[in-house]
Amino acid sequence: MNSLNENQYELSAIDTNGETSESDDNSIQSPNLIGLQFGSIIALKKIRYVLLISVTLCLIILTIVIFVTLTHRQGNLVTTVTLTTSDTTSQTTNTSSMLITSVSTTVITAFMPMLNISVDAQWEQNGITIIEGRQKDNATYRVYQPRGLFIDDDQNILIADHRNHRIDEWKQGDKEVVVLFGGGKGTKLGQLHHPVDVLIDRALNTLIICDQSNRRVLRWFRRSPNKTAEILINNIRCAGLAIDHQRYLYISDNEHHQVKRYDTDGRNQTVVAGTGRQGNASDELNSPAYIFVDRQQNVFVSDTENNRVIQWNKGASVGKIVAGNGIVGRILKKLQQPAGIFVDSSNTVYVADCRNNRVMRWPQGATTGSVVVGNNGQGSGSNQLNCPKGLVFDRTGNLYVADSRNNRIQKYLFK
Ligand SMILES: *[C@@H]1O[C@H](CO)[C@@H](O)[C@H](O)[C@H]1NC(C)=O
Ligand SMILES: *[C@@H]1O[C@H](CO)[C@@H](O)[C@H](O)[C@H]1NC(C)=O
Ligand SMILES: *[C@@H]1O[C@H](CO)[C@@H](O)[C@H](O)[C@H]1NC(C)=O
Ligand SMILES: *[C@@H]1O[C@H](CO)[C@@H](O)[C@H](O)[C@H]1NC(C)=O
Ligand SMILES: *[C@@H]1O[C@H](CO)[C@@H](O)[C@H](O)[C@H]1NC(C)=O
Ligand SMILES: *[C@@H]1O[C@H](CO)[C@@H](O)[C@H](O)[C@H]1NC(C)=O
Repeated sequence: MNSLNENQYELSAIDTNGETSESDDNSIQSPNLIGLQFGSIIALKKIRYVLLISVTLCLIILTIVIFVTLTHRQGNLVTTVTLTTSDTTSQTTNTSSMLITSVSTTVITAFMPMLNISVDAQWEQNGITIIEGRQKDNATYRVYQPRGLFIDDDQNILIADHRNHRIDEWKQGDKEVVVLFGGGKGTKLGQLHHPVDVLIDRALNTLIICDQSNRRVLRWFRRSPNKTAEILINNIRCAGLAIDHQRYLYISDNEHHQVKRYDTDGRNQTVVAGTGRQGNASDELNSPAYIFVDRQQNVFVSDTENNRVIQWNKGASVGKIVAGNGIVGRILKKLQQPAGIFVDSSNTVYVADCRNNRVMRWPQGATTGSVVVGNNGQGSGSNQLNCPKGLVFDRTGNLYVADSRNNRIQKYLFK
């Protein structure tokens, strides 16, 4: 390790332990703005038109589901694409020719692939570097300590590019990333300060960004040329994001050691995990970070400083350990600052075990984990990692890891 990397290590250690950050006094954008714009577009059409479109959409969706189910069967991996239609939008609008009192249409709110990976699936142990962060000049980085990853329906990957203060997009096959949002640390509504996680709300095609050091969660229309976001939730030190099929948004608040749930416009906060006390009891968390929510709205939390992953069933007042034993360590039943998590359809938990430089797998009920990739010491070899953070799987089971302190994104082929 050269001195630059050691320096980064220091800085990151500060990050996880709550650095001071400037408060943000930017005015809050009205969350209703989006609803209204959306509503007025719909209102322009006649009801008949809307119905026709809905029926067409349903047919297209059905075709996609059948197509995907039939085509994506490979080896012991089966991809099930599940669709949920819900959320009826209602708006009252006044047009010159007629008064439409209530237009209802069904919009697709979630399109989340669920992976069924066999418990003995294997991945190539040598990762392919799809993004080499360090540029030739060694002074700038394509990705600089990447954190959370998100994969979209086209299998493109969004990257919370932590120390470049931006969100990048990587398209399959490319050697470069495209900056989607941010770049240059700041508090303006087009800027970020240490983003740590990102996701897409498919219904509106918006990016939701955990802008950690600005203590806010932002929402930005993905393809909008307007590089101004709106503040969805202010005054929260978020450390991880998830969205469920009903479009509830989950945010880990690592200052209050809780996971909170909001509606899609950032309102109606409910605590779903943690008491607000920092601790290691079964109802407590200690620096919760990455989260995953399954179909039943059970929440899985990387309880970072407790060195464990907790499953918190919907409505439960306590969680249960599903990975790690809560005691820091390097042996297979322990974790050391767990980060990104993914849970497959059989409840197997995949976790980036940051300080152990590996990705682990914990099948349901397991009392010990097994190595998915890494565990070959801290380093930058193709079979090594240096504090992995975010992880995602594509439709065919290939694994992508934000190898944060190596400033690169690694891909591991599914065997
Ligand atoms: C509808 O628009 C007309 C003309 O612009 C206005 O006079 C009327 O008050 C409006 N009605 C509502 C319900 O907004
Ligand atoms: C960049 O760093 C690498 C590895 O530390 C070194 O081999 C290379 O010479 C450096 N390049 C420049 C332009 O400084
Ligand atoms: C850009 O978006 C912001 C927030 O959504 C909005 O307030 C602003 O008016 C928009 N600017 C332009 C030029 O459309
Ligand atoms: C907030 O939650 C309450 C009860 O859970 C519900 O009745 C209300 O409609 C929600 N409000 C919004 C704006 O979603
Ligand atoms: C949990 O916390 C208590 C009190 O802080 C401590 O004594 C105990 O060792 C901790 N347990 C683990 C597994 O770290
Ligand atoms: C996963 O796939 C296997 C066979 O490929 C099947 O037996 C099992 O029921 C599936 N599990 C789920 C949860 O879909």
